[in-house]
Amino acid sequence: MYKEMAEEAIKKYMPHEKEYQEKVIDAMNYAVDAGGKRVRPVLMLLTYKMLGGDEKIIEPFMAAIEMIHTYSLIHDDLPALDNDYLRRGRPTVHVAFGEDIAILAGDALLNYAYETAAKAFSMSPGDIRVEKAYTVLAKRPGIYGMIGGQTADVVLTGKKPDKSELMYIYENKTAALIECAMEIGACLAGADKVKTENIRSAAGHIGMAFQVQDDILDMTGDEEIIGKPVGSDEKNQKYTYATMYGIENAHEYVKEQSEKAISMIKAVVTEENEHCRNLLAIIESLVKRDK
Ligand code: IPE
Ligand code: IPE
Ligand code: MG
Ligand code: MG
Ligand code: MG
Repeated sequence: MYKEMAEEAIKKYMPHEKEYQEKVIDAMNYAVDAGGKRVRPVLMLLTYKMLGGDEKIIEPFMAAIEMIHTYSLIHDDLPALDNDYLRRGRPTVHVAFGEDIAILAGDALLNYAYETAAKAFSMSPGDIRVEKAYTVLAKRPGIYGMIGGQTADVVLTGKKPDKSELMYIYENKTAALIECAMEIGACLAGADKVKTENIRSAAGHIGMAFQVQDDILDMTGDEEIIGKPVGSDEKNQKYTYATMYGIENAHEYVKEQSEKAISMIKAVVTEENEHCRNLLAIIESLVKRDK
């Protein structure tokens, strides 16, 4: 149900009107329509509903975070970065449309995400919750978040990072966007500062678990199921938690991080509602995910 709601919001806000920019709009839709788990908008929605939110104001933000995430995948796959040919079960955007259009489609999705989220300002004029959410959306994918992590990932390619460097990469390239999603859910629901901060910390643990599970799947996954190439990290000489500490320890870490997230969320809610139970179930399912 939450995934369908995310799909609906994404569909509602993706651009379709075309003139000379047809090619870039086709590439944007190609990447977004390919699917994906929609983990970030789903976590945003669940957090929002768990904290009592129940308005359409969440929709432009759900669409925006998936646009930002999809842009990050398009650019991550480029020949200059991970040089991968398969994403979400389809040829990557640069393979299907050329590198020039792939770069532009990534740029366009990033920019359109902010155009989309800005629509929330006219849906609820003067709403401080929207201002807070928009600020989070501007900050966490940026240089002190996702871009910072991707930069460290690139700079450290081929070098064995120490533990704190590895943690920096994961906290930023992956956890930052998951924190962004859940923090926006909390802001829009009108959660106070302490609650919002606790949600953000819980999301950080989900993000760490999510990336280490991604590393495990890069070694042990099935290409048909994950929809992207297996062995990308080894090909690119990327040291990961799984290659540095072993698969068993990696599984253990994923479990431990998820448990931390679950207990932090339980501490935030005074009364476990249906959405809270669904959120906890999703976090648990992410530990066992095979895609
Ligand atoms: C892949 O994200 C990139 C990482 C941060 C590990 P997802 O695993 O959420 O990819 P999709 O959206 O389901 O394709
Ligand atoms: C990338 O991590 C995270 C992003 C910010 C896109 P990976 O390079 O491991 O992601 P995948 O495995 O290609 O999805
Ligand atoms: Mg990468
Ligand atoms: Mg990659
Ligand atoms: Mg990976």
